[in-house]
Formats: sequence, C-alpha cells, structure tokens
Amino acid sequence: MNADIYDVIHRRRDVRAEFTGAPIPEDVLHRVLAAAHAAPSVGLSQPWDFIVVSDPAVRRAFHDHVQSERAVFAAILTAAAADRFTQIKIDGVLESSLSIVVTYDPERGSPAVLGRHAIADAGLYSVCLAIQNLWLAATAERLGVGWVSFYREQHLRRLLDIPAGIRPVAWLCLGPVTHLEATPDLERHGWRHRRTLSAAIHHDRW
Ligand SMILES: Cc1cc2nc3c(=O)[nH]c(=O)nc-3n(C[C@H](O)[C@H](O)[C@H](O)COP(=O)(O)O)c2cc1C
Repeated sequence: MNADIYDVIHRRRDVRAEFTGAPIPEDVLHRVLAAAHAAPSVGLSQPWDFIVVSDPAVRRAFHDHVQSERAVFAAILTAAAADRFTQIKIDGVLESSLSIVVTYDPERGSPAVLGRHAIADAGLYSVCLAIQNLWLAATAERLGVGWVSFYREQHLRRLLDIPAGIRPVAWLCLGPVTHLEATPDLERHGWRHRRTLSAAIHHDRW
C-alpha cells in the first residue's frame, strides 16, 4: 500500500472486463471495509451496512436481473446509440471475486439526525462517501471496483432479504484485476466524454 492519495484518485476506474476472479485476502477485504466505515456521515449516523456476497447462485440471479434491465434501457435508445451500447459491458458480477452491496438505513440515529432536518438526502450522501472511500481504498490495494446500478431496488431487497425501509444503494463488484484502464470505458467506446475542469468551476455566481 502506501500509495499517494492523488495517484490513487486518478488511477481509480470503474471496472468490468478486467477482473481475474482471484480471491481477496481476508485482511485486505477488512482494510477496504474499514476505510468505507471511516467515512464522514451526517449527524454521525453511519447509515450504511455492507453485505458481502460470495454465493455464486445469488450472483447469478442478480446477473440475470441486470441483463433484463439492460434490455429495458436498450429499448429506449436510438438505433445508433443501441448499436454502440451493444459494445459496452455494464457489469462484472460473474467475473469478479465477490460483490459488496451497500445499503442505507434512514432510521439510524433518527429522529434528530444532526444536520439532516432540512436536507433528507444528506443521509444518502453519507452512504456515497462510504462507497467512495471503499473505491479508493480498493484502488490503493490494487483491486478493481465496478458499480452496478442496472437493478430495481425491490428486486435486490427480495434477493438479499434486506428489511423494508432499508435501501440498497450500490452493488459493487470487487476483486483483483489484470490492470486498470487509463481512460473510462464509456469514453473509450465513444459513449460520452469527460468535461474539462474549467467548465465545472464557477466564480461567485452559477
Ligand atoms: C452511481 C453510479 C452508478 C453506476 N452504474 C454503472 C453500471 O450500472 N454499469 C456500468 O458499467 N458502470 C456504472 N457506473 C460507472 C460509470 O459509468 C463510470 O464511473 C464513469 O463512466 C466514469 O468512469 P470511471 O469511473 O472509470 O472514471 C456507475 C457509476 C456510478 C457513480
């Protein structure tokens, strides 16, 4: 480990095709989850949980669902975009070593979550920060992460026995990779290009 933070931030990629399927050592998995759990959270609510999914049957069932949602998305595309989309892999659920589903519990610490009274989404933001910590820690550990969002929450809740009221926020594929690409897949496939930083910075007013 001991990688420079900026190097890790810029090396991080969303991974689908580069997973090797090799096992993740227990101590490495623990460090990655501990990094996620160290994230800031509104009112110190720590509203996240992590479901580590190793069971091949569960991953296969989720993968089938992802494929059907892929078809739903493809159906709304123009012919040219649909053609480009066929070239793009959207998940590495079966090829990665394991998956981690990150959930959000809006009741944790409630009713008086300090800092959430005016912005209900602050709870969800906290979960996303845990995910980003996990992603960067995994990158520092030379693992790849792939976020899969082609699913219906209700389907995932049933598949993993997630209690009512708790929201699945991300299905993350995790594991050793052959390499990390230097350019995001969507850019390499001509789907979409990154904005320049200067286009994103505003001064004093929007
Ligand atoms: C909330 C979220 C959901 C995403 N869902 C998917 C997904 O379902 N399938 C996929 O291939 N990539 C998914 N991605 C990855 C993005 O496509 C990727 O982050 C983006 O193209 C930039 O590439 P990079 O992460 O390699 O820099 C998701 C990313 C985020 C942050």
